[in-house]
Amino acid sequence: MTTTHKIASIPGDGIGIEVIEQTVRVLRTIEGLFQSFKLDINTLDWSSKKFLETGTYIPDDGWDVLEGSDAILFGAVGSPDVPDEISLWGLILPLRKKLNQYINLRPIRILPGLSAPLKNCAEKDLDWMIVRENSEGEYAGQGGTTHDDTPYTVANEVAVFTRVGIERTMRFAFDVARGRPRKKLTMVTKSNAQRYGLVLWDKVFYDVAKEYPDVEIDKMLVDLTVALAGSIGVAASSSLDPTRKNPSLFEPIHGSAPDIAGLGVANPIGTFWSAAEMLRWLGEGAAADLLMGAVETVTAAGLKTKDLGGSSSLAQVTDAVISELRTSYSKVSPMS
Ligand code: NAI
Ligand code: MG
Repeated sequence: MTTTHKIASIPGDGIGIEVIEQTVRVLRTIEGLFQSFKLDINTLDWSSKKFLETGTYIPDDGWDVLEGSDAILFGAVGSPDVPDEISLWGLILPLRKKLNQYINLRPIRILPGLSAPLKNCAEKDLDWMIVRENSEGEYAGQGGTTHDDTPYTVANEVAVFTRVGIERTMRFAFDVARGRPRKKLTMVTKSNAQRYGLVLWDKVFYDVAKEYPDVEIDKMLVDLTVALAGSIGVAASSSLDPTRKNPSLFEPIHGSAPDIAGLGVANPIGTFWSAAEMLRWLGEGAAADLLMGAVETVTAAGLKTKDLGGSSSLAQVTDAVISELRTSYSKVSPMS
């Protein structure tokens, strides 16, 4: 039986458009190899260009379109012509909020052939899943300003934490940890300085931990990490609604990179990796593994874009991944 997955694709701005275009080529290749599922990809032109023409990022019928989708593949939003807080709050943040994507999941691994700051100390060990709460704290969007445009302007940005919001995130993180080889969950917190919200965060962590005696825990105070895998261009993220009532969203962590937009040199690996996470979330684990295997073969062979110290173009890296997908699929499935 053939399943059809409905994907809403939102390329957005800048290199988002370029990396999504190449990722759709990759997905079409995978769809052609696997006869068991089809991808119905609906490309939505929601962008800063459209905003400047129409005054909105998400059109009136937009939410209906998204609600009928199984997943969203997102590039990046942000343009030198629009203030960043307008574009972020016009597109990506409302998607995450309205679609109840309260989990942001970021797999971090050093891919073969890449050099990264922690490579020598952690080549084997650096294999993390970062679980970030995606709807409260600094993403709550509560606050305001008064005395605007005077020397006395006051602005506040309220970080909101709810027990419900923390608890569901902790459970998700413990489940992720339980499903991995080390079964270890580290809580990264700043509860030394933020003594209300993040202290509640700590408390709920230890409460929920009692339900997961098989998961080892520890706690770390940190201001934050993450450019550890070599380049921002290789990192992937998923904004998930674990209840699956709404479509989840998959995107590279980078932005629209206006400095290199249109040059055909953007690194597509973060978007490929995000597409692999999307396939996995849709139940297509074999297709996700095939894609990540092809990406790793290509990086190991030294085919890299400029940000990773290489000289290959966006299209060359994509062509190599596509050709590797075909080769490795025919090895695992000699009938095709
Ligand atoms: P950025 O991630 O777009 O770029 C930072 C630096 O990394 C630039 O030098 C860029 O050339 C490089 N870079 C990023 N992705 C790359 C890739 N795939 N391949 C090679 N090099 C890459 O972050 P920046 O410059 O702070 O923001 C630019 C715009 O993107 C802003 O409008 C910002 O608001 C927006 N943005 C959007 C995000 C989203 O859509 N979720 C996330 C982060 C920023
Ligand atoms: Mg992004």
